[in-house]
Amino acid sequence: MDRYAVVGNPIAHSKSPQIHAAFAAQTGQALSYEALLAPLDGFAATVAEFRAAGGRGLNITVPFKLEAHALADTLTPRARAAGAVNTLAFADGVLGDNTDGAGLVRDLCHHHGCNIAGLRVLLLGAGGAARGALLPLLQAGPAKLTIANRSADKAVALAREFAAAGGSPLDGCGFPSLAGRRYDLVINATAASLSAEVPPLPPGLYSDGALAYDMVYGKEEPPFMRAARLDGATRVADGLGMLVEQAAESFALWRGVQPDTGPVLAGLRRALAAG
Ligand code: ATR
Repeated sequence: MDRYAVVGNPIAHSKSPQIHAAFAAQTGQALSYEALLAPLDGFAATVAEFRAAGGRGLNITVPFKLEAHALADTLTPRARAAGAVNTLAFADGVLGDNTDGAGLVRDLCHHHGCNIAGLRVLLLGAGGAARGALLPLLQAGPAKLTIANRSADKAVALAREFAAAGGSPLDGCGFPSLAGRRYDLVINATAASLSAEVPPLPPGLYSDGALAYDMVYGKEEPPFMRAARLDGATRVADGLGMLVEQAAESFALWRGVQPDTGPVLAGLRRALAAG
């Protein structure tokens, strides 16, 4: 049986084994998928051991995505742009991919009816999560994309770096500069939700019908979603679908089969609500 795993520290909370087991059952793929705890100073050794034992591929989570990027022999363009790797595939060499941004775009499109082409998109944050989403977002053809960050200089630098990556106008700024602007899609890629905080945004950001999306998820709605609704967002969404879609992209890379994510997402949503 082909072996796969997710590597992180901590890792016990990971939903990836459950998601990939569901994909494998659904598509009739004979594989096993486990959770591997790597010591903080032992990522490369954990990967080498797994590979030597016949492992075929890995998902990589916090805090090892940068190390995985450094370890790969070959990078996909989206992994190179992200500067981080969440998927390794072992063949003659080690291929590094990043499916997070594609997972976001697929979730928006398939589960929220949100076609990014032609939309005014605001991406909040300029850290790893925002960077990982940028290339797939730009490739989806928004009318314009603004990166806004607490530290404005980081947003400006990120916008400059990705200026040539797509045809859409791209700019970077701090939160106060958003005053008076309107967006159709606002994506929270800051770490604020992790500490139950909300980025300090000026009011009136949302156009009619706008969607506010937070990359995090949990039993409780992320506070960003509540704040967005109060500020006039018509629709709000959390990042559970992004989690399932990034897993589906990894599964497709490894197995050449695209799983049906709908039932798997619905099952996770039920389990999360039951908590
Ligand atoms: P990640 O990999 O999750 O993106 P990161 O690379 O450490 O983590 O980046 C964290 C991001 O969340 C940054 O954009 C950070 O803003 P700064 O660059 O100004 O630090 C943002 N962030 C963290 N806490 C925040 C808060 N309370 N309000 C707004 N932005 C916050």
